[in-house]
Amino acid sequence: MCKPILKWVGGKRQVITEIKKLMPRSYNRYFEPFVGGGALFFDLKPKNALINDSNKELLNLYTAVKETPNELITSLSKHKNEAKYYYKTRILDRDSKSYDKLSNLERASRFIYLNKTGFNGLYRVNLKGQCNVPFGSYKNPRYCESENMLRCSELLKDTEITSGDFENIKNKIKKGDFIYLDPPYVPINTTSSFTSYTKDGFDADTQRRLRYFCDYIDKKGAYFMLSNSYTDFILELYKIDRYTINTIHANRSINSKGSGRGKVREVLITNY
Ligand SMILES: C[S@@+](CC[C@H](N)C(=O)[O-])C[C@H]1O[C@@H](n2cnc3c(N)ncnc32)[C@H](O)[C@@H]1O
Repeated sequence: MCKPILKWVGGKRQVITEIKKLMPRSYNRYFEPFVGGGALFFDLKPKNALINDSNKELLNLYTAVKETPNELITSLSKHKNEAKYYYKTRILDRDSKSYDKLSNLERASRFIYLNKTGFNGLYRVNLKGQCNVPFGSYKNPRYCESENMLRCSELLKDTEITSGDFENIKNKIKKGDFIYLDPPYVPINTTSSFTSYTKDGFDADTQRRLRYFCDYIDKKGAYFMLSNSYTDFILELYKIDRYTINTIHANRSINSKGSGRGKVREVLITNY
């Protein structure tokens, strides 16, 4: 078994069973262009895959897990679960000179440590790209799970890892491949005329660009499955005879503070 190395906003762990039920029975290469924490990827353990994300720190992290897992484990074991140490580690990105001095391995190690010991087990950055999550005060945060790290490393050895916009992988897609797309969601409570700015920059035009990307995959004779929110905007955008809009229910935060949780409708759109 491989467990995701990070906890990621919008992670798909709790809806994996439903996703797997709706996947094609067989396919050639597996692609995940918005991989984030990679809940589905680590669960499926595909033999020959490509993972991508626009977040460069993720590319650096997965590359370190792939190429230098033992050094990463050693580095992780040196961190301390103490508030003073946490803030000293967190503040490194406030000054680009000290951040640039970190090796790729040190950056990956810091990323995992902050993700696992920070409040809510999340990694969040402000507009300047600086981590702003307070210390979590957890008794035993598991930031150094060596056996899991080695298993993930084995899996990543067969995986191509890239970083950039989702369209960059276009030329690699071939007939019979399967592409799982889990982009930043259209905000719920928006109307079909949603155009507004979203905090991750994934606005209405980018959602439309993603729809054309799905059409490209379809024309290539490959399979796609797309997750998004159940909103008028998405239902309109994918209202095409060839595509199937499946509805699933996910347990998600239902208010901006994240304190209320409830069942939220989501869509899984497929072209098969
Ligand atoms: C909903 S999350 C994916 C969660 C993932 N499925 C998991 O289980 O953790 C969306 C991801 O898309 C990435 N992203 C945002 N804009 C992108 C773009 N234009 N191209 C590629 N990735 C992008 C974000 O960095 C984020 O990791």
